[in-house]
Amino acid sequence: MEPDGDEDGDTRRDFLTLVTGAVATVGAGACVWPFLDSLSPASGDDLADATVDVDLSRIPPGQQSVVVWRGKPVFVLHRTTQALRSLQDTSLTGRRLRDPNSRERQQPEYAVNWHRSIAPQFGVMVGICTHLGCIPGYVPKPGGYVCPCHGSKFDLAGRVFTGSPAFYNLPVPPYRLLGPNSLRIGSSPVGLDFDFATIRQL
Ligand code: FES
Repeated sequence: MEPDGDEDGDTRRDFLTLVTGAVATVGAGACVWPFLDSLSPASGDDLADATVDVDLSRIPPGQQSVVVWRGKPVFVLHRTTQALRSLQDTSLTGRRLRDPNSRERQQPEYAVNWHRSIAPQFGVMVGICTHLGCIPGYVPKPGGYVCPCHGSKFDLAGRVFTGSPAFYNLPVPPYRLLGPNSLRIGSSPVGLDFDFATIRQL
């Protein structure tokens, strides 16, 4: 299914802003993400580990850590108060996002909410573009992700913008909080379940 492409002027301007920022950061981002992973705490050394623990206290507001879970990059983003406000902005959640309410199965039920996560301030998303699988770059300002391959853009909850080649939001993996400063990717909250293989599109 093709994008509808009905962007307004503001969307195009935001897109250009994001792309400009992305061009400036893609090179550095592509180089540093394995480095960031090496700095991130993990439950084991095997990239195929079923679970990966993340120390949230090491991620300042506005920054993200990238870890590897089952061979996939996972973005763990510490969202600022301003970022959280932007996710609820009705000018964003209207027709500018393709699936603002997470109707497609791209996340567990416990992440079907306006922030697509368990704790609003922390976003957890598989960093693989749902178009053809490139790794989107994080653009802190104005806030979002841009894919370096064909320009798909996503907001700070991984929701895809209309007009992008990608059709689906970034997937959210199963995860749970272990405490106020740590989370475990690959394991759902007690009493809940999510089979990542059932998502619509990786
Ligand atoms: S792979 Fe991301 S836009 Fe094509």
